[in-house]
Amino acid sequence: MSIERSAAPADAGPTPQHRLVDGSLDDNSAEQAEEASLRPTSFADYIGQEHLKANLKLAIDAVKKRADGTVLDHVLLYGPPGLGKTTMAGVIAREMGANLRITSGPAIERAGDLASILTNLQNGDVLFIDEIHRLRRAVEEVLYSAMEDYKLDIVIGKGPAARSVRLDLPRFTVIGATTRTGSLAGPLRDRFGLIHRLEYYKIPEIERIIERTARLLGTTIAPEATALLATRSRLTPRIANRLTKRVRDYADVNGDGIIDVPIATAALQMMEIDELGLDPADRNMLRLMLENYGDRPVGLNTIAALTGDETATIEDYYEPYLLQLGLLERTPRGRVVTSKAKAHLNHHPSA
Ligand code: ADE
Repeated sequence: MSIERSAAPADAGPTPQHRLVDGSLDDNSAEQAEEASLRPTSFADYIGQEHLKANLKLAIDAVKKRADGTVLDHVLLYGPPGLGKTTMAGVIAREMGANLRITSGPAIERAGDLASILTNLQNGDVLFIDEIHRLRRAVEEVLYSAMEDYKLDIVIGKGPAARSVRLDLPRFTVIGATTRTGSLAGPLRDRFGLIHRLEYYKIPEIERIIERTARLLGTTIAPEATALLATRSRLTPRIANRLTKRVRDYADVNGDGIIDVPIATAALQMMEIDELGLDPADRNMLRLMLENYGDRPVGLNTIAALTGDETATIEDYYEPYLLQLGLLERTPRGRVVTSKAKAHLNHHPSA
């Protein structure tokens, strides 16, 4: 299997301020390379998302059994950042024995960019499109017919001399990833045969991921320290891996390299990550909402104005985990800070 990545997006889109716990993958090649080295490459190695794995395995086995040149249906993976959508795309390609081509919605600026990607595919290739909800409309339209009948409609020339030609494309599988299915155009969504949501992980699964990562990093971690880190990782593997690496740094500098509970506790305290996995930015947002609006619902634009973030950042990075924990509630009139959040903030008087 070969993996090829297209150029980084020209417009990186909503960029959350740098936070250890934001679930985003920084546009930093060292971090990306390190993260890639920790990624599982097979279903057997991939911890959690059992329902998704069972469905994908079945679909892949069926295609392999048919052996008549049909390829895997297009797959749409959605859910909060950091839960393993890109990793799963790699696993699917590997399990299919296919090449993986990686690109993203914002990186494909014009229909011509997509045409060039598509015409360079080979039969059976997997094309991963991250942030597929950010594809431009004109690009999306080219993708429809490519996904539906493996044809590429392109217009050659301009004005009265313009003519349309239809090119045959190889059979390929698109794996689209998005944090929000709601922002995906209906016709595009309809082109996917397999649509699955990635769920937050369970604590024992996060513990296994931390153990695996520590093993791959060559670090010893006490089971109690694994349990502690797991509760602070926002049920998100990317954050679990990031915290494990930072705590390992702390253990190397301030101890003998072994991660035990005192080392993990001190490192988490230094990173200002509390018992629920919230960081100062989360607590600041909740506190600003409470101070300014009390128990009243707050609109998304108002929250964004209060924190100085983009609305997309609030929706994609802060909110899903706060909702999952029951610290925030969504009502038709806006977001409300819950009494559970108030009790939590009382234990953390400053941000
Ligand atoms: N690293 C990141 N996500 C993982 C997962 N789901 N299983 C194993 N290792 C991982």
